[in-house]
Amino acid sequence: MDNGDVPPEVDTSKPHSARIYDYYLGGKDNFAADRKTAIKAMEAWPPIRMAARENRAFLGRVVRYLAEEAGITQFLDLGSGLPGVGNVHEIAQDVNPAARVVYVDNDPIVLAHGRALLNSTPEGTAVYIEADMREPEKILAHPVTRATLDFTKPVALIFIGILHFFTADDEVRRIVEPLINAVPSGSYVAAAHVTAEFAPAPTVKAGDVYTRSGVGIIGRDADVFADLVFKGLTLVPPGVVVVSEWRPEPGAILPARADVSINGAVARR
Ligand SMILES: C[S@@+](CC[C@H](N)C(=O)[O-])C[C@H]1O[C@@H](n2cnc3c(N)ncnc32)[C@H](O)[C@@H]1O
Repeated sequence: MDNGDVPPEVDTSKPHSARIYDYYLGGKDNFAADRKTAIKAMEAWPPIRMAARENRAFLGRVVRYLAEEAGITQFLDLGSGLPGVGNVHEIAQDVNPAARVVYVDNDPIVLAHGRALLNSTPEGTAVYIEADMREPEKILAHPVTRATLDFTKPVALIFIGILHFFTADDEVRRIVEPLINAVPSGSYVAAAHVTAEFAPAPTVKAGDVYTRSGVGIIGRDADVFADLVFKGLTLVPPGVVVVSEWRPEPGAILPARADVSINGAVARR
């Protein structure tokens, strides 16, 4: 991306998780500092690009499941990232044109691009808000959230590829619990989280690259992840699995777990 196109509030000298991920996915919204971190992480753990694509594909299958099979029409996508292929509102509105989506991110570049690219159906809504997930009450009270989502009806909370950036378990609880408490029964929680279970040495090394560049990240094993995010909820089969194994497309060739190293699940409140 040309620095001339960048909003003044975006600091391109430091790597950022949204733009590193954009680089893995082949996007153009990344800068030299992001690419440097991304390339070093890929040297430490070569399958990282495949893992990013599997994470994104999981997001797509989850949203289609929620819209088509669970009948969800409202989505709150936390740590939504830059608009890419198969955004939540596009998939949800393909199933139900009246679906409503609130995207939340705290990277100003996401907001700048998100606003430009939102292409909701006329019957539905797709909006971005700039907010820090560490302040879930502000997200819930935000006028745009209130105007878009009806919290007396089921809402899907989406935490995909995000909670591993909060390295303290307590911080994850402080984010997730108020949001889950704010939605009625019949709502859903979907999450994906990196793990070092299947390829401990290289994934930890890649995580160290992130942390040294200022983007803190932590892998959590499936049981810790499940306890933090899904406790008291009913997991939808197949439960917590490597994201590529969550309701794969028929005939899909599944990569090795060690090459994905991201667990994911969907649960009902
Ligand atoms: C790796 S991307 C994941 C994007 C998308 N959810 C997906 O899985 O395809 C993580 C996103 O979380 C955002 N993020 C990181 N910390 C955040 C925070 N404290 N509040 C809100 N968003 C945050 C980043 O800006 C980035 O866009």
